[in-house]
Amino acid sequence: DRRDRLRLALLDWYDRHRRVLPWRAEPGRPADPYAVWLSEIMLQQTTVAAAGPYFRAFLDLWPRVTDLAAARREAVLARWAGLGYYARARNLHACAEVVADRHGGRFPDTEAGLLDLPGIGAYTAAAVASIAFDRPTVPVDGNVERVCARLFAIATPLPDAKPELRARAAQFAHDHRPGDFAQAMMDLGATLCTPRRPACHRCPWSGDCAAEAAGIADTLPARLPK
Ligand code: ADE
Repeated sequence: DRRDRLRLALLDWYDRHRRVLPWRAEPGRPADPYAVWLSEIMLQQTTVAAAGPYFRAFLDLWPRVTDLAAARREAVLARWAGLGYYARARNLHACAEVVADRHGGRFPDTEAGLLDLPGIGAYTAAAVASIAFDRPTVPVDGNVERVCARLFAIATPLPDAKPELRARAAQFAHDHRPGDFAQAMMDLGATLCTPRRPACHRCPWSGDCAAEAAGIADTLPARLPK
């Protein structure tokens, strides 16, 4: 059906244009759940470009989640400096301790199990479950909200549109390459389906996108005045 065709078109685009990022799986190197989790927490704070050096520094100092759990909290907070929002770094350390102490040093491999961990909300649980464990779930961040608002021409402004956008994204959940699909949505939002001046002519969903057809892609998603 149409959804399958859209899914496969996006995966095909991703195979040709995927960004090489340090936490991503490569042929012969599966994604490490600890690295995926760490990157997703950092990326809630900053851009892909700015997160890179922090990500590498953390993995050099603490290559496994048990190393991070054993670190002094002050050392973790000091390395987080510059990323901002220290509550997140405290949660990061607390989460590492729970994984080390109560889960034998291995991250739970289900979305529900991940949601139980400190500092892991709906987005992070879905991101780690799909990217690290190939669970069929679609993480919804701001990029994915924008892509879905345009694809389906959802005029409801944010934040009211969030439940509908999440429901639309969830309909793409599928057993075939869910981690790649999740990251393809993020890459599409970051590189082509950008907030301003989206590059619709290069989009794998061009011709299927309701907002593009109506000439309103750059106006979506609408936002309630703060
Ligand atoms: N933003 C948040 N998570 C990401 C990921 N895994 N790849 C690209 N951009 C992201």
